[in-house]
Amino acid sequence: MVSQIYGVFFTFLAIAASALPENPATAKAAASNSSSQINSNSVLVALLDSHYTELSELVEKALLLQTLEEAVSKHNISIFAPRNEALERDLDPEFKRFLLEPGNLKSLQNLILFHMIPSRIESKHWPAGVQKKQVHHASLCRDAGDEKIRLHEKNGERIVGMARVIKPDDIIRPDGIIHGIERLLVPKSVQQEFNARRSLRATSAVIPEGAPEVDPRTNRLKKPAPPVAAGAPPVLPIYNALAPGPSLAPAPAPGPGGPHHHFDGESQVKDFIQTLLHYGGYNEMADILVNLTSLATEMGRLVSEGYVLTVLAPNDEAMAKLTTDQLSEPGAPEQIMYYHIIPEYQTEESMYNSVRRFGKVKYDTLRLPHQVVAEEADGSVKFGRGEGSAYLFDPDIYTDGRISVQGIDGVLLPPEESKAPKAAPAAKIVSKPRRGKLLEVACSVLGAVGQNSHFSTCH
Ligand SMILES: *[C@@H]1O[C@H](CO)[C@@H](O)[C@H](O)[C@H]1NC(C)=O
Ligand SMILES: *[C@@H]1O[C@H](CO)[C@@H](O)[C@H](O)[C@H]1NC(C)=O
Ligand SMILES: *[C@@H]1O[C@H](CO)[C@@H](O)[C@H](O)[C@H]1NC(C)=O
Repeated sequence: MVSQIYGVFFTFLAIAASALPENPATAKAAASNSSSQINSNSVLVALLDSHYTELSELVEKALLLQTLEEAVSKHNISIFAPRNEALERDLDPEFKRFLLEPGNLKSLQNLILFHMIPSRIESKHWPAGVQKKQVHHASLCRDAGDEKIRLHEKNGERIVGMARVIKPDDIIRPDGIIHGIERLLVPKSVQQEFNARRSLRATSAVIPEGAPEVDPRTNRLKKPAPPVAAGAPPVLPIYNALAPGPSLAPAPAPGPGGPHHHFDGESQVKDFIQTLLHYGGYNEMADILVNLTSLATEMGRLVSEGYVLTVLAPNDEAMAKLTTDQLSEPGAPEQIMYYHIIPEYQTEESMYNSVRRFGKVKYDTLRLPHQVVAEEADGSVKFGRGEGSAYLFDPDIYTDGRISVQGIDGVLLPPEESKAPKAAPAAKIVSKPRRGKLLEVACSVLGAVGQNSHFSTCH
């Protein structure tokens, strides 16, 4: 199945490359020889994982990933993403065929790039309607000549080009923003190329839409639904919520469930530690989490406040290779653990998809400012480099929507530390007590953290 997909993909690349010798298949180069590394929280990664599946597919088909990766490495981008219907039902099938012909790759690229602006425009930056101001922005499409994208407001609605913005600020990331729009923006240059290829009369590429929808009850234009807030991530970055330093200050004990406590993070942390224990092969990791009460408490608190976490859990064999040197510094176990926690919810699938598309992806960790690099290797995800690297070994050990635990076969170390000489002989990080003993400790420690009804073994 997977090899079939690859087969089709590479056939497509081959066709695209042979049909367009002046336009080398850049995406292939991006996949195999990417000098830049994309951040996992990039707007580009978000787009490919978003509900704008039709646009994402076109971005990939247009071999634009490398171009866009370079763009977001230099500046913010704003993406006006047509809703899926605009690229399916509402699109003239003939125009769509034209775009997907390998010989018309340039037109497809231009069309997509015309939906992107090389700066950050949030809905609050929209020109206000009162002054009837319009703002024109150049797009990322270099072949659009002097055709710019017009932003204005009409009847209280934000408009870009000819399209209504139906989901302003739909996806917000540090390097860019995505606004959902109702229809495609077609630059004149692409329209002309399309018309020139048709022997038939030139007609508009986009099936004209009827009048904007009117709500029969209010006789007003239907407004887009307000953005959903339930379950949305907290506004502040996770670092603002972290205790000042893992080894400096113990995390405050979580309160009984104040206004910020939307989720029962303590139970979820308990659940996942218990899952690790039952899974087998991760006792050392579970051990540390139980023993470093402040770490478990901190994780529980963050999840309670709405943050999401992905734990890259080294298995027992990996932990056994840690040297006493690596653990002797005060706070070292905490530092090691914090480097294995990503402040994002990632599953095996989402990480594998990212590295397959981008070659290399950087994930933030709770150990600031260190990031961990991931890349595709041997059909799996490989984290880190050299000595301090590891493969995704046991995928999705625990995934509850807020905490994800992925088993890895090595202990990750930030680049400078993995280069440090390893003199001391290998020593186990902690003694491995019998599992019964461990569970007993887990129950007593975590029982103090919250009610332990979720920790069913604790009776
Ligand atoms: C990777 O790309 C760089 C320039 O972008 C080039 O110098 C190098 O030879 C390429 N390496 C491979 C293996 O293609
Ligand atoms: C993107 O915009 C944000 C907010 O304005 C800014 O902090 C950040 O530095 C920008 N990133 C780049 C690459 O310019
Ligand atoms: C926790 O750490 C102490 C030493 O600090 C050790 O004696 C104990 O066995 C550890 N507990 C567990 C459950 O491993």
